Amino acid sequence: MDPTTLIPVVDPIPIPGPWFDVLLVATFVIHILFMNVAVGCAAISLAGHFGASGSGLSRTLSKRMPTILALTINLGVAPLLFLQVVYGQFDYTSSVLMAGYWLAVIGLLLAAYYGLYIYDFKYDALGGARSVLLLASLCMMLWIGFMFSNNVTLMLRPEKWLDYFKLEGASFLNLDDPALAPRYLHFMVASLAVGGLFVALMGHFAKDADRTAAGMKWFARATMLNIVVGAWFLMSLPRPILLKFMGGDTMASALLLAALAGAVGLLWAGLRRKPLLAAGLTVATVVFMAVTRHLLRAFYLAPWFDSSDLPVTGEYSTLMLFLFFLAVGLPCVVWMIRIYVRPENVEGDA
Ligand code: HEM
Repeated sequence: MDPTTLIPVVDPIPIPGPWFDVLLVATFVIHILFMNVAVGCAAISLAGHFGASGSGLSRTLSKRMPTILALTINLGVAPLLFLQVVYGQFDYTSSVLMAGYWLAVIGLLLAAYYGLYIYDFKYDALGGARSVLLLASLCMMLWIGFMFSNNVTLMLRPEKWLDYFKLEGASFLNLDDPALAPRYLHFMVASLAVGGLFVALMGHFAKDADRTAAGMKWFARATMLNIVVGAWFLMSLPRPILLKFMGGDTMASALLLAALAGAVGLLWAGLRRKPLLAAGLTVATVVFMAVTRHLLRAFYLAPWFDSSDLPVTGEYSTLMLFLFFLAVGLPCVVWMIRIYVRPENVEGDA
């Protein structure tokens, strides 16, 4: 059977595809940074219950995590919408093929979220059970991340979709893809680094040198590990795509080099314990990596699809409306964040 027959017919889009590509990558960067902080803080907080960094830090993080996870979820909606506009025929199909697992994400997300709330609100009453509850929430978040990695890689492999017929309609994952494990681990190890950076920044602004040092230690160690995982991810890519990143495509190779330079800078800033520099470099590196990842998607889909072939209806009024609300909404968000991070609004922050 020809896999192209399984790819749904494309729908026209209102404005040229590159608008959506830019918005997709930009919102993905924000979503993934928040996801990193949510998962990383949960792991660091859990480690605190077993002696690493002390349980005072766990208590502080317990107050932050529900809000951060809520923001992660909300900030995931935007890239989901932009992804569906341009790549819907691939993403919807992979979502349907892994439907059972995919629908379960909603329930798990709610459970993980409530778990973090209970962990915060009943912190003292829970006693020893608090680490079990946090572990459960963390495992659910890790599983959800794994489902996202499965979905966004399954959408790139229409040839794999044929398995649906062998499995007689059962939902399946993209487990035989050699790039899946390193790709997923790359995101999760990054979470330990960014979670550590979040702790270090909290320490920096509270003038707490011990906390800054503890956070930077997580950041530097996880970044070191992630350089190895990132190399594994690169090597696991299909050979024709790997060669594009190795000089075959100038843009792809330049982006990868920029991302690698960023990673080396991160390590340096981590070892030198410079949280502000590390934060700036982290955002820059994640932007480069996200653009590289977007290019990777285009390479995978090249035999099947080119986003510039999408029919465009030229309805710019929707774009104007979107940009208007973005311009009005962003200052409101900045204002809310400023209120949220005021020390007096973080009750009992240790
Ligand atoms: C605990 C919650 C979550 C975790 C741990 C998580 C984790 C991840 C990870 C690891 C990826 C990258 C996958 C890859 O490229 O291999 C990802 C991508 C993505 N996530 Fe999340 N996510 C969470 C919640 C959400 C929610 C609730 C939404 C939507 C409402 C969302 C929307 C997205 C989208 C659209 C992408 C792919 C964007 C693209 O491919 O350009 N995420 N997420």
